[in-house]
Amino acid sequence: MLETGSPISTPNVNAWRQSSASFLMSAIRSSAANALSGDITVPGDKSISHRALMLAGCAVGETRITGLLASEDILATAAAMEALGAEIERPAEQDGPWRVWGRGVGGLAAPGDVLDMGNSGTGARLLTGILASHPFTSVLTGDASLRSRPMARVTKPLERMGAQFICADGGRLPMTILGATDPRPIVETPSVASAQVKSAILLAGLNAPGKTTVIEHMPTRDHTERMMRAFGAEVVSEETSEGLAVTVTGRPEIGGIDVQVPADVSSAAFPLVAALIVPGSAITVRGAGINPLRAGLLNALDAMGADISVTPLETAPGGDPLADITAKTSALKGADIPPEWSASMIDEYPILAMAAAVADGSTRFNGVGELRVKESDRLAAVARGLDTCGVRIEEGEDFLVIHGTGGNVKGGATIAADLDHRIAMSFLVLGLAAKAPITIDDGATIATSFPGFADIMRSLGAVLEEGIEDL
Ligand code: S3P
Repeated sequence: MLETGSPISTPNVNAWRQSSASFLMSAIRSSAANALSGDITVPGDKSISHRALMLAGCAVGETRITGLLASEDILATAAAMEALGAEIERPAEQDGPWRVWGRGVGGLAAPGDVLDMGNSGTGARLLTGILASHPFTSVLTGDASLRSRPMARVTKPLERMGAQFICADGGRLPMTILGATDPRPIVETPSVASAQVKSAILLAGLNAPGKTTVIEHMPTRDHTERMMRAFGAEVVSEETSEGLAVTVTGRPEIGGIDVQVPADVSSAAFPLVAALIVPGSAITVRGAGINPLRAGLLNALDAMGADISVTPLETAPGGDPLADITAKTSALKGADIPPEWSASMIDEYPILAMAAAVADGSTRFNGVGELRVKESDRLAAVARGLDTCGVRIEEGEDFLVIHGTGGNVKGGATIAADLDHRIAMSFLVLGLAAKAPITIDDGATIATSFPGFADIMRSLGAVLEEGIEDL
């Protein structure tokens, strides 16, 4: 329940979403850049920002979130939490904390309208977990990309907890959720390595009596576990003969806390790879999260001979480890990237593919079938885009081989972003090191995760032009 003294005026997150949203497609072009240099920070971590807002909405009292990512995906989650009864106040000053007054575990209220999660798979799947153990009906939808993504991976286990779902054909959004009146705790071993699936089950378990366990064969990012603990919930992770078992004890009394969101290592990946492939560059990204379950890209780049140094910073108790990361232009060579690394760098394959295109020799991504169900079919989008940029590739159902050009990427292509922010940013980075410019048909999609991308890249010396009309 809300504490007395919480604000009575509820800011309307949907209004902020509408004023920030870029409804028009807007092409953006990158061209060969001179050396990149400088120190930058990138916006807050998307995964952690979603979880901070959701758990704040399930806690009693006020949570203050500093460094929250104010991107379209996160505004979608904020709007959903507001529609479910949380009160949310956006900071008046840019660096100030977002303030959220939550409703307590199990205390969210039925929304008065459809919840539109925009482009965000994480927002939709994690929220499905929360809604599955609330005794009311809600409807989720999203943009064309999100409406094409599979939901059965979360609805199947959540049905075992007592929720019911009516989905569009193929188990997709739009989806009606009939939340369980008496949610049951379960033990589940998901068939895909997915932090979204694990988190959806744990979030549902938060409002189920008893212990809910997820067993992972391949550990995935643990932001949900870390943040639930920070809010005061009991979450235990232990190695078992079957895998890593993560157990949440349901119905805790959790109260508001202060959350500090680190800079997003997945966003940092774009300027870091740009510096590696543009001759004469040296850049530093300050204060990026380097949770080992997220920072697999750094291992992959290391295997390719990248000159990257990581200087650890002091970390807030319970928070993710942080570091300054410096990248300098490197003579990259091809490498085999094993499937065991995939969970820790699942979002970084598109940008790694750009590094591989510039490298000497071939790079092979193995066991990456999951990339076919991201914001776009990323294996196909990377393969098609590199092919049009003059890079030889071999594509299989769950692998990709990129035959590096040794610094001779032709470019001169227009790439369809397909509502996929990481495809857009990856090819823009490649354009900085290609012989001829690369144009992305829709740069607006970048705002889902990395507002300010073009300005930040330009501050390093990148050549990026927005509002291109001659496609
Ligand atoms: C995320 C998990 C990953 C990742 C996504 C964010 C999260 O998805 O691709 O961008 O915040 O839990 P999967 O869990 O489907 O691999």
